[in-house]
Amino acid sequence: MEYMGSKEYWNEKFLNRSDKLLSPEKSIIENIKYFKEGSVLDIACGDGRNTLFFLEKGFRVTGIDFSSKALERLEMFARRNNYLVNTKQIDLSTSNSLKDIGIFDNIVINHYRLNKEQLADMKNHITDDGILFICGFGYKHKVDSKIRKEDLIQPTDLDDMDKSFDLIKYIENEDDRGYFVTYIFRKKKS
Ligand SMILES: C[S@@+](CC[C@H](N)C(=O)[O-])C[C@H]1O[C@@H](n2cnc3c(N)ncnc32)[C@H](O)[C@@H]1O
Repeated sequence: MEYMGSKEYWNEKFLNRSDKLLSPEKSIIENIKYFKEGSVLDIACGDGRNTLFFLEKGFRVTGIDFSSKALERLEMFARRNNYLVNTKQIDLSTSNSLKDIGIFDNIVINHYRLNKEQLADMKNHITDDGILFICGFGYKHKVDSKIRKEDLIQPTDLDDMDKSFDLIKYIENEDDRGYFVTYIFRKKKS
């Protein structure tokens, strides 16, 4: 029963969700103006509340997740709205899982913690001036049985990003779900 959880845990969770999609992440809505026109890679997209929001805004979106049930729901919501979406079932815990994913104008990582090596690799998958948007429970969030310390984004996770990215916005905020951080990076010209 944890935040990152196993594939079975997430499949079960998505199977038991209602027919309605959750609202997009507030921080994405509030910061949509920073995104670069074009394509989005939504990493650990779940059943697509943010993917759908980007499709609605005119982006081309690829959603990846290891849960087949999440991706089936995402495809269903996209069809229902007449959007085309690209989905790929990928387990991010396997090495080099993003090797063949390609290059995007924006990458979104919302409520999933990549490791440092994977974060360092993000520069290889983003176009010049492209955006890397990271949002999730931050280091001050209260840990419980669902959200463990290992799931929290630590400031040191992003230590090495400044060689390839400019941090254009950093936000800390708290709501009824807990304590969040948002990082918006823009890729430097190569
Ligand atoms: C907290 S949800 C966030 C979903 C979505 N990004 C959002 O903001 O609504 C975490 C997601 O990570 C996915 N996930 C967990 N471990 C994963 C892994 N090893 N590889 C790929 N996806 C994974 C789950 O299936 C789930 O959809």
